Amino acid sequence: MYKSYKVADNFYWVGAIDWNLRDFHGYTTEKGSSYNAFLLMDEKTTLFDTVKSHFAEEMLERIKDIIEPSKIDYIVVNHVEMDHSGALAKVVDIIKPEKIICSLKGKEAMISHFKRTDWPYHVVKTGDKITLGKNSITFIETPMLHWPDSMFSYINEQKILVSSDAFGQHWGTSERFDDEVEFGELMFQAGKYFGNILMPYSNLIQKLLKDVTALGIKIDLIAPDHGLMWRKNIPAIIKAYDDWSKPTLKNKAVVVFDTMWKSTELMAGQVAEGLMSKGVTVKLMKLGENDRSDVMTEILDSKIVVLGSSTLNNEMLPRVADMSTYMKGLRPVNRIGACINSYGWNPNVIKKMNAELEAGGIKVADDGIAVKYVPEKTDLEKCFELGVKLSKSVN
Ligand code: FEO
Repeated sequence: MYKSYKVADNFYWVGAIDWNLRDFHGYTTEKGSSYNAFLLMDEKTTLFDTVKSHFAEEMLERIKDIIEPSKIDYIVVNHVEMDHSGALAKVVDIIKPEKIICSLKGKEAMISHFKRTDWPYHVVKTGDKITLGKNSITFIETPMLHWPDSMFSYINEQKILVSSDAFGQHWGTSERFDDEVEFGELMFQAGKYFGNILMPYSNLIQKLLKDVTALGIKIDLIAPDHGLMWRKNIPAIIKAYDDWSKPTLKNKAVVVFDTMWKSTELMAGQVAEGLMSKGVTVKLMKLGENDRSDVMTEILDSKIVVLGSSTLNNEMLPRVADMSTYMKGLRPVNRIGACINSYGWNPNVIKKMNAELEAGGIKVADDGIAVKYVPEKTDLEKCFELGVKLSKSVN
């Protein structure tokens, strides 16, 4: 039996907990996730978002804890990605809503996904307000945060911001609020979410934070579509989003590498030693032992990125190619970087590695070090000095 969870006056959590989700298209969700949907009871009862398709029954049962689903009047679709809309077609068939409230891009995305031009779409734009009875909702479009359709819904009378993916965390918990869980883990998971999903849109987040401040709206509760809701630590998560999107970076380096016969590993270790000798906080991360999404979480607040690989068949190692492709898409700009490489007979792979860093917005601060087969003592000294040089480049 699935129960609802009261969040505020006439406002209920009716989502689903995906306890054993371990992979979210390449992002390792070691503690699961949740898909948050909310029900606001009023003269026009409104459902905010839905859940992944195979959690439809769980959500409907939570709704039935409060009201027959067919009595819901409106569905607000803040975001069409399938973790929030996978259950929508089934839910629309049952509810037969008077309105499906969405952005224009949301309507287009729903038609593309569900091929239903007959649904009662009600398109809203930033500043539009809909009165439900005692409550009213004002909408704020947040295009490309992180899909073109994304938007926030602000419940004016209760000062609740239903924020879609923003401020979310992939963390499946029995608790629903930020002050019910360990704060360090909460901020780690919020940072991991930002670093692996929202980082490419940092400029837009800076603009959004300024726009929301300019609107002067007061927020007593942030209700994201994943993880814990924020009621106590709202200033902390807003400040974190400001820091992560600026970005405000620490005197910290991530040395990420893979190795065939330990040559690259020896070199990576000496770059790390050089950085540490100058007081830089270092994370030395071997791929295979560390997941790409955990590497990105460390890059989130790091000034320096060092990429290391052996050469295999005239290319970088597969796990390094995977990492550099993933990192390039997430665009960790404003960092500096360098590469290290051990090779057998083709010394040119390091040029491809440097190009990958540049393509991701990382400024290559040194041509890097490529060593034939096994590094000599002098090669390892050069690696140490590369670490020293990088530390000076950011101080
Ligand atoms: Fe949680 Fe962009 O979907």
